[in-house]
Amino acid sequence: MIGRLNHVAIAVADMETAIGVYRDTLGAKVSDAVGQPEHGVTTVFIDLPNTKIELLEPLGPDSPIAKFLERNPSGGIHHICYEVDDIIAARDRLLSQGARVLGDGKPKRGAHGLPVLFLHPKDFCGTLVELEQASRDPGGQE
Ligand code: CO
Repeated sequence: MIGRLNHVAIAVADMETAIGVYRDTLGAKVSDAVGQPEHGVTTVFIDLPNTKIELLEPLGPDSPIAKFLERNPSGGIHHICYEVDDIIAARDRLLSQGARVLGDGKPKRGAHGLPVLFLHPKDFCGTLVELEQASRDPGGQE
């Protein structure tokens, strides 16, 4: 069911420092920082030949990554994102297998403008999993 690894997300306390690490130390191509107030994070994407890295910095007082950074003050891998062809079919299959989908179970618009869902880490080997629809459904009901 899952397809390509779309990105690995790394939570960071300080975006400028993290950008320096990826751009200057590791020599990667780093996007501009984009605030996503509806998700409580600022994101930066790093293009690699086979996938992307998403840097996440808390934005606003109720950021969903604030607790993670309290536990991991130097930052750390926050989630991994797999592509699926049909996010509704994927969700229904996972629910029928007893997996927990976070929130109200309805796909939200993710950082790339495509529908995403998050799955409970306890059901997926201790890893928070994001599913992203691989591309806009041409007949989609977004
Ligand atoms: Co993500």
